[in-house]
Amino acid sequence: MKLFFAVVVFIFPLIRAQVPHWGPCPEPAVQPAFNLRQFMGRWFEIEKLPAQFEKGSCIETNFTLTTDNSIRVASSEILNGELRKIEGIGVIEDMRNPAKLGISYSYVLPYSPYWILSTDYVSFALVYSCTDILRLFHVDFAWILGRKRTLPDSTIQKAKELFTNNNIDVIRMIPSKQQGCDKAL
Ligand SMILES: *[C@@H]1O[C@H](CO)[C@@H](O)[C@H](O)[C@H]1NC(C)=O
Repeated sequence: MKLFFAVVVFIFPLIRAQVPHWGPCPEPAVQPAFNLRQFMGRWFEIEKLPAQFEKGSCIETNFTLTTDNSIRVASSEILNGELRKIEGIGVIEDMRNPAKLGISYSYVLPYSPYWILSTDYVSFALVYSCTDILRLFHVDFAWILGRKRTLPDSTIQKAKELFTNNNIDVIRMIPSKQQGCDKAL
């Protein structure tokens, strides 16, 4: 019964969101000497995987440090002309691996991986989340984040190369809509 519940609640939505890949999750390298404090603040979603065409625009997240290893995660988007907000918490699960965060948007949900693969803290960040399902296949999410609403094409190109070099398939990554966001609703 419990497994059935888990499958319906956690696994179906993931599978619906993207075609799963065979085999276990890739094990990408993450940002060396990751500094959580420098990562805090406002980030805009520039590109993402999987493609979610029906989703909102102007997606951004504001990270705030709450303790040395935990953060408040406040995300927002504009959907059908309305500002929607969601709040979660993030933690560094193992201080020896500070770039491997876990984020949860509800106390009933488990922490999802939120790995910072690369960031310069001031312009871009590459984030990856992958969940193994029975070690048979995996579903994954990837984001290119920017401190501004746009990033140079060369940065996006390099970002995609980094994902690809870590065995992450970003062929179907799509740009997030960040136009017309600064006007009042
Ligand atoms: C981010 O969150 C902090 C703490 O709640 C707040 O002081 C700050 O104004 C927020 N920044 C943005 C851009 O929303």
